[in-house]
Amino acid sequence: MFVHPRSGCVFGGYCRVVKGCSALNADTQGGGGGEHGNRHSVHVPVLLQQTLAILDLRCGLVVVDGTVGAGGHATGIAAAIGPDGHVAGLDRDREILAVAQDALARAKASGAGAGFSLHHSPHGDMREVLAGIGQPCCDRVLLDIGVSSLQLDQPERGFSFMADGPLDMRMDASAKLTAERWLHAVPEQELADTLYRLGEERHSRRIARRIVDERRRCRITRTSQLAELVVAAMPAPARRGRIHAATRTFQAVRMAVNDELGALERGMQAAVDCLRPGGRLAVISFHSVEDRAVKHFLRDQLEVITKKPITATPAEARENPRARSAKLRCGVKREQPA
Ligand SMILES: C[S@@+](CC[C@H](N)C(=O)[O-])C[C@H]1O[C@@H](n2cnc3c(N)ncnc32)[C@H](O)[C@@H]1O
Repeated sequence: MFVHPRSGCVFGGYCRVVKGCSALNADTQGGGGGEHGNRHSVHVPVLLQQTLAILDLRCGLVVVDGTVGAGGHATGIAAAIGPDGHVAGLDRDREILAVAQDALARAKASGAGAGFSLHHSPHGDMREVLAGIGQPCCDRVLLDIGVSSLQLDQPERGFSFMADGPLDMRMDASAKLTAERWLHAVPEQELADTLYRLGEERHSRRIARRIVDERRRCRITRTSQLAELVVAAMPAPARRGRIHAATRTFQAVRMAVNDELGALERGMQAAVDCLRPGGRLAVISFHSVEDRAVKHFLRDQLEVITKKPITATPAEARENPRARSAKLRCGVKREQPA
């Protein structure tokens, strides 16, 4: 795979057989499986038809998929904008771009595709990415935020409590901060606040205390170690809930390590800066902290066209449990005053 040194654009690339990257609901965003049991996800992009419809796609548009993942949404977008359109797919995870490359190239070869370029880049840098491919602006932006099942299903990436692995959790494997480093550096009060704010974990203080006690004794290096600490810190009834007791802690740690809320703000701001007047930004989020940030940002910066968030139909929720907590919101960039 050749990566353009300035734009981060990926050309060519190897193709791995991957069962899929998928957006996961809050039950599974936390760290694998969520509900008890080792459930592997197949790739089904969430709210696909609703997303394509709200983006109001037409032939020839330039669309940024800021979280291209395995390319599920991107191939739908490519089919709708046709050969005169262009999809710029961005992802923080370099490895996953090869999967998107394969999906988009196949769509193109079958005649249901568009021009496309793939970039190892955070979506907050979409302006530089667009400049690198000679596009001063774009018509549509999609952000489908969170973790992919491809990341979750690789124990060595350290996202999952369902399989033992190193406490890593970096979406971008070239980043310096791992979950292990973060857990050993964060002050106890900040750890408790993070678990509460990003994981909505009611037992945040007990868990933070337990982690801090343990890290004084030894290094916490494995996902299984962290999961056991969390379970041990929980009161007995809380250990028997519908979701695994470590789900919320893993979600919060992952979001902190990858600064996901900060990245979301930067991505939405970059989208507003890059969109042409009349252009649309659609964001799919998976839990209330993110949805609140999306709702407020769209209200402040754009003309909101989803008064209430779009959610999965009962049929989609039945067929794809990961879609159950997905919320889609969309805003239009106002025409500039004459
Ligand atoms: C839920 S998956 C996207 C799935 C995709 N829509 C599809 O249909 O295959 C989210 C992806 O966003 C990526 N991601 C998360 N934060 C990012 C950021 N700040 N910038 C770019 N990509 C990011 C993750 O690496 C992951 O691959």
